[in-house]
Amino acid sequence: MAQVNDIGIDLGTSNVVIYMKGKGIVFREPAVVSIEQESHSILAIGTEAYRMIGRTPANIQVIRPLAQGEMIDFELTSTMLRSFVTRVIGRRVLSRPRAVMAVPSGVKEMEQKALISSMFDAGIRRTQLVDKNIAAALGAQANFQGPYGCLIVDMGAGASDLAVLYNGTVSVLSSISIGGDHFDDAIIRYLRKKYNLLVGERTAEQIKITLGGAAKRDPGVVMDVTGRNLISGLPKTLSIESDEIYEALIDSVNDLIEGIQIVIERTPPQLASDIFEAGITMTGGAANLYGIAEAVQQVLKIPCRVAQDARDCVVMGCAKVLMEPNTLRYLLKR
Ligand SMILES: Nc1ncnc2c1ncn2[C@@H]1O[C@H](COP(=O)(O)OP(=O)(O)OP(=O)(O)O)[C@@H](O)[C@H]1O
Ligand SMILES: [Mg+2]
Repeated sequence: MAQVNDIGIDLGTSNVVIYMKGKGIVFREPAVVSIEQESHSILAIGTEAYRMIGRTPANIQVIRPLAQGEMIDFELTSTMLRSFVTRVIGRRVLSRPRAVMAVPSGVKEMEQKALISSMFDAGIRRTQLVDKNIAAALGAQANFQGPYGCLIVDMGAGASDLAVLYNGTVSVLSSISIGGDHFDDAIIRYLRKKYNLLVGERTAEQIKITLGGAAKRDPGVVMDVTGRNLISGLPKTLSIESDEIYEALIDSVNDLIEGIQIVIERTPPQLASDIFEAGITMTGGAANLYGIAEAVQQVLKIPCRVAQDARDCVVMGCAKVLMEPNTLRYLLKR
């Protein structure tokens, strides 16, 4: 029986999201840790560490312990996870809760064991792991548990993970280094080149959300953008149109679509024809880019949809396993 404080965790490379039974999503923080370089002591974890990015003196380093679906620094990942979980469940839990945690596909078996033991140290009685692509498919309500191929494209911040699922298991797996951060960078480069205007990452992200698109917005949208003029060095505000940002993003969007096409070409023919019929499901925050599903569908001639609440599909997939342990247990990692 699921008990009241059982949790689901999306251990993402950019963000960690935690769901608690009966409460919904209770935690969302960047997966970063800041350390003092000489002593190697931890200064901050999560949002607090994220705020230090770009603002820290040379002796402080802000690290992403997970990147591109792999564990770069195992010790820091464990420490970060312990800190997040204790913050959510409290330090002195009488009834030790259980957890279902989605991990990136690149996490090795030894690392999985160690993650489970970190969870135990944080007060979790039992942690079960699920592949993050499977969790995304569950959260997106994709039809992947039967004998037909299904393609999930999870667009995160640093990368997009592509997985062809069949009978509830991963059949083909690939990662493309294009995600939301890539779009932000393209916007920064575009504004610098066209207007000599330098904007920061957060402004670029806001522009992407308000003006950006994989298709032209109709009617167009205009936004005042403030940055630093690279010639005068002074602040400058320009009125930017959505068509310009479409232009800035189109190459990256096309690279993503090409990546999807390559994965479909590598997919066994029977599964590929299932995908042609059932279509592609997109999840992850970056799948909220305006017009992305339409662009994919137009180029590849395959139906494509963005899942509802795309950013939370992975954690909601974990939540589903918590709720229906008997029918969904077979999806867990052994
Ligand atoms: N409305 C939106 N339009 C476009 N992009 C968006 C929107 N909302 C969020 N994003 C982008 O989604 C990305 C974050 O997605 P998500 O939270 O799924 O990443 P993540 O799970 O932390 O990454 P990963 O899966 O790589 O660990 C960011 O780049 C963010 O800018
Ligand atoms: Mg993710």
